[in-house]
Amino acid sequence: MAEQKKILITGGAGFIGSHVVRRFVNHYPGYHIYNLDKLTYAGNLENLKDIEDKPNYTFIKADITDADGMNKLFTDLGFDGVIHLAAESHVDRSISNPLEFVMTNVLGTVNLLNAARMIWNGQFAGKLFYHVSTDEVYGQLGEEGKFTETTPYSPNSPYSASKASSDHFVRAYYHTYGIPVKISNCSNNYGSHHFPEKLIPLMINNIMNKKPLPVYGKGENVRDWLFVEDHATAIDTIYHNGHTGETYNIGGNNEWKNIELVKFLCRLMDRKLGREEGESEKLITFVTDRAGHDFRYAIDSGKLMTELGWKPSVTFEQGLEKTVDWYLANQDWLEHVTSGAYQKYYQSMYVNR
Ligand code: NAD
Ligand code: DAU
Repeated sequence: MAEQKKILITGGAGFIGSHVVRRFVNHYPGYHIYNLDKLTYAGNLENLKDIEDKPNYTFIKADITDADGMNKLFTDLGFDGVIHLAAESHVDRSISNPLEFVMTNVLGTVNLLNAARMIWNGQFAGKLFYHVSTDEVYGQLGEEGKFTETTPYSPNSPYSASKASSDHFVRAYYHTYGIPVKISNCSNNYGSHHFPEKLIPLMINNIMNKKPLPVYGKGENVRDWLFVEDHATAIDTIYHNGHTGETYNIGGNNEWKNIELVKFLCRLMDRKLGREEGESEKLITFVTDRAGHDFRYAIDSGKLMTELGWKPSVTFEQGLEKTVDWYLANQDWLEHVTSGAYQKYYQSMYVNR
């Protein structure tokens, strides 16, 4: 019998990571999936209840900023592939605490690259370091145009600057040491298990609880939304069929002004909750804008679609309905993640904003 390939997925207890872990565990019984996660406020093993007992899955609690720990782990387990998602991911938190983003997103990524370089030691056949990144590295767009793989980097927030830096290190390790790498830069994700600090799950939670819906500035900023399970299939496609050393943009071709999206969500939830149409919209409250708020993101996924044949499986309407249904059916998940530290976070970010 062929030996199982050992794939390390970092940040697998988080939002996107948990969908990637689930997909790989379920679709690839020939791989053993190691999920490495520090379990910060954003990491939650409840996200993986359905697969935690599978024989090809192991959870490892560890911190990617621990260089010695990463070297030991890679030496002990000898991974064939790495899919790196672990990161501090929330822009607002990066504005309050940039250094934490440097530590995890930059230093943590370099630690993993060093550990992979050490164990692979120039023997790169069948090896891959896949780095999951964001469209925010490209900066912001005006009313027109889309980001392509050749758009120059121009990050504007401490979060995007840290992700841009990590992308540059991944590229540099390819060019300097020959480590086989792939990078993808994706637009805004939405779906189940999304921590309610981000726009869509925060609004779903507040609508459910009839709390004010805090829209930054005038709500005119535009984001390009992709269903998280479609991001997981894109990562699978690129991991297996993408070209080494290349970057792929992933997006939903689905742009929404924040205010329009929040209104759409209000109407959908009024229907689901048996409320009168327009009831939840009354909760919309315009609050002080995010510092340095990027105006618009939009991704051109042409390369991924044409070269590798990937396409999203759901429309935004279908994906958002699935997402709302999941939150309504999993209110205990929301209660668990919004008790304790979340309350303090919410107070500091939103009260008197
Ligand atoms: P998330 O915040 O939900 O999850 C991050 C995970 O990383 C958590 O489980 C956390 O515990 C873990 N983690 C954090 N610091 C760690 C450390 N030092 N060591 C080990 N684990 C650590 O993030 P997400 O939204 O799922 O994003 C995952 C990745 O995808 C990130 O790299 C992010 O930059 C990128 N991305 C996110 C989006 C999006 O819309 N959410 C879009 C494009 C790219
Ligand atoms: O584009 C990809 C990026 O998308 C990822 O790399 C990040 O990890 C992810 O967090 C996301 O970043 P954004 O800053 O775009 O997402 P967020 O959900 O925080 O905000 C989406 C938009 O909604 C943004 O214009 C700010 C606005 N907003 C957000 C929150 C939390 C509000 O108006 N009110 C809010 O309460």
